[in-house]
Amino acid sequence: MSNPYTLVFGQPPLEVVERTAQAERIVSDFCQERPSNYLNLVTGIRGCGKTVFITQIAHRLREKPEWIVVDLNAQRDLLYSLAAKLASHQTLSQWFQEAEINLQAFGVNVGLKKAPAATDIEDVLIRMLRSIQKHHLRVLVTIDEATNSREIRAFASAYQIFIREGLPVFLLMTGLYHQIERLRNAEGMTFLERAPRTVLAPLSFIPMVRKYMETLKISEEKATRLAKATKGYAFAFQTVGYFCWEYPENENEAMSRARDYLSEFAYQKIWSELSKNDRDVVLAVQRVPSGEISGIRSILGWTSNQFNPYRDRLLKTGVLMSPQSGYVSLALPWFGEVAVNFEEINNA
Ligand SMILES: Nc1ncnc2c1ncn2[C@@H]1O[C@H](COP(=O)(O)OP(=O)(O)OP(=O)(O)O)[C@@H](O)[C@H]1O
Ligand SMILES: [Mg+2]
Repeated sequence: MSNPYTLVFGQPPLEVVERTAQAERIVSDFCQERPSNYLNLVTGIRGCGKTVFITQIAHRLREKPEWIVVDLNAQRDLLYSLAAKLASHQTLSQWFQEAEINLQAFGVNVGLKKAPAATDIEDVLIRMLRSIQKHHLRVLVTIDEATNSREIRAFASAYQIFIREGLPVFLLMTGLYHQIERLRNAEGMTFLERAPRTVLAPLSFIPMVRKYMETLKISEEKATRLAKATKGYAFAFQTVGYFCWEYPENENEAMSRARDYLSEFAYQKIWSELSKNDRDVVLAVQRVPSGEISGIRSILGWTSNQFNPYRDRLLKTGVLMSPQSGYVSLALPWFGEVAVNFEEINNA
């Protein structure tokens, strides 16, 4: 049997730890007869499992006959892509023809003489969505890795109109915390401020232990140790599983390879996106094993007022976690020691 764990990002892994509660909340919100939420912004640090999470929700809704799921590429012209994908859907394109929506602009030759060629893409989409609504279907649009780009802003402002028109179009969008913040603060995007958000929680502990026991054929004690080491970080769950499979007799070797892999393929990038002060906070947290904030502040020589904004942002981005009030710790496994290495290399 080959290694059941994967080191590849974004790929639905063989061994999935379900995020049942968070997924269920979105699915049941979207499936309500009169939904009060039409969109959800999913955030979390790199490698925490955003792509896998929305892929799974998309998969669940795709299985229901009343849903049409469209995955859009954040780099493209999103409105055009949405219209083109809907137009190329066999059943829908028939309905669109009946509704006399001219689809020639999307490469669909409908042989309609009387409908004028569509010029305003928003109008076309509104007509398409009305036709979909008439047949009691719903559309889910997923956009992975959203940023504050022109394409996303154009899509979001049209989307706002679709919702205002009462059209059955739902939006599930992922992004890193700071990217989603920038988007929400952009002009005309105030409706996103009220949008429900899902901050992906760490993977659940007991299912992780169970997966490790089953796949690696190891004792509960060892599986518990491995699961604890991952801190519920999805990428670490895969990496630790992968190297423990490759080195079944040598736990130390497996863990050190897992740490090096995380460092190279996730932490370097995360570190490069932190400001100098953010980095100083991370290094100070690493030096205070208890995580007591007063100790961390005294290393930094900062007042509470200076410290709090950094703590808040690092908590939101998923670099820190707060086990209890007055304490913080690093949310990612081995991140502190890897950060110390990065800093040494920087200063060398
Ligand atoms: N629920 C899960 N259970 C087990 N492994 C998971 C789960 N979700 C994600 N993974 C694994 O974690 C890794 C990262 O997942 P994913 O690519 O979805 O993260 P991401 O948040 O989209 O990262 P990025 O911000 O870089 O796009 C992948 O190897 C994936 O297989
Ligand atoms: Mg992703």
